[in-house]
Amino acid sequence: MNTEEVIQNEKEYVLGVYGRPPFVLTEGKGCTVYDSTGKAYLDLVAGLAVNVLGYNDAEVNQAIAEAAATGMFHVSNLYHTAPHTKLAKKLCETSFADKVHFSLCGASANEGAFKFARRYARERGHDDKYEILAFSDAFHGRLFGSLAATPREKYQQPFEPLMPGVRFAEFNDLADAQNKMSDQVCAIIVEPVQGEGGINPATPEFLQGLRALADEYEALLIFDEVQCGLGRSGDLWAHQGYGVVPDLLSAAKPLAGGLPIGAILMKQKVADTIHAGDHASTFAGNPFTTHVAYTVVDRVSQPTFLASVKEKGQYLMELLDELNSPHILEVRGKGLIVGVELDIEAAPIVEKGYAAGMLLVSAGDKIVRFVPPLTISKEELALAVSKLGAILQEA
Ligand SMILES: Cc1ncc(COP(=O)(O)O)c(C=O)c1O
Repeated sequence: MNTEEVIQNEKEYVLGVYGRPPFVLTEGKGCTVYDSTGKAYLDLVAGLAVNVLGYNDAEVNQAIAEAAATGMFHVSNLYHTAPHTKLAKKLCETSFADKVHFSLCGASANEGAFKFARRYARERGHDDKYEILAFSDAFHGRLFGSLAATPREKYQQPFEPLMPGVRFAEFNDLADAQNKMSDQVCAIIVEPVQGEGGINPATPEFLQGLRALADEYEALLIFDEVQCGLGRSGDLWAHQGYGVVPDLLSAAKPLAGGLPIGAILMKQKVADTIHAGDHASTFAGNPFTTHVAYTVVDRVSQPTFLASVKEKGQYLMELLDELNSPHILEVRGKGLIVGVELDIEAAPIVEKGYAAGMLLVSAGDKIVRFVPPLTISKEELALAVSKLGAILQEA
């Protein structure tokens, strides 16, 4: 199929929920992807904060080859398989968690976490403790429960009624969270660094205060690290940079380097209240995906790898500051999750990026987001920033 045929077929047969630019991507190498005409794009999107090791990484490819060597081997969660437990052990050893439950994506990880929080409260005799406290500008997913905790009218309104029992407070406003808290709340969910909502890092006082609030009300603290976790912030888990430990954590996007997977990490006290049959998924934690994910977690958790993310993130922020563009209002983020807030719409800037051979993505109307592969080089970051500078100069 040539480019025109692909785009035509998409128009004819694919549900139009995605607005896609008029090229067809065919392959990737390192931090560059290529379209069907051979044009190269430096990728600052990484499959939406997924491809932490870039494209065609030799070790990931090796893990895929090993996993494929068994042929198709789906047996479901009715049976023991080794890769699933090996990955769970690795995740526990590299985090606060004592137990892991696998899911299929970020939204389903959050929904599992909500169910576990309700179960935890019920097991402790609190039948009316089922509400969730979430925050302004949060993004937790598009399923009914996770969507209910994602306060964006455009996403929610067409699909109401959503899951009831979610209340909201202002992000980074501890006093507001204290006001909105009640004995009915079984869990507080927060992204340590908000992604879709505009790349907003939480303040340490906010996360520390939420920890204290959850403890005071016997609620659980859930960190949604679907986008900011697994090395992106420069710490393996973003909350490690804050010194605040959650009771539950949702992870997904980068976990298997591009294969679909999610995970809910939890403390033993939560696991103790969840029983056989309480939650399940046909495909979650399958041997192929979890085998590949082990390689990703092993690589990303190396201290030298994490140090390089911190260093490159710092470098990226410096380069963006040095652009001194009158269109840039603020540069913010942590590690290699960085937002550039503009005084103009971000969508045309992203579009001009395509012409300049660069993939960027917005996070809100006026914020350009950098979530590149964590393996990106300083030279590639400098090239991306100079391309952005040229685009802003013309804007
Ligand atoms: C913080 C956060 N949570 C949850 C999700 C939902 O993940 P998924 O699209 O895999 O369901 C996303 C997706 O962007 C996210 O950024």
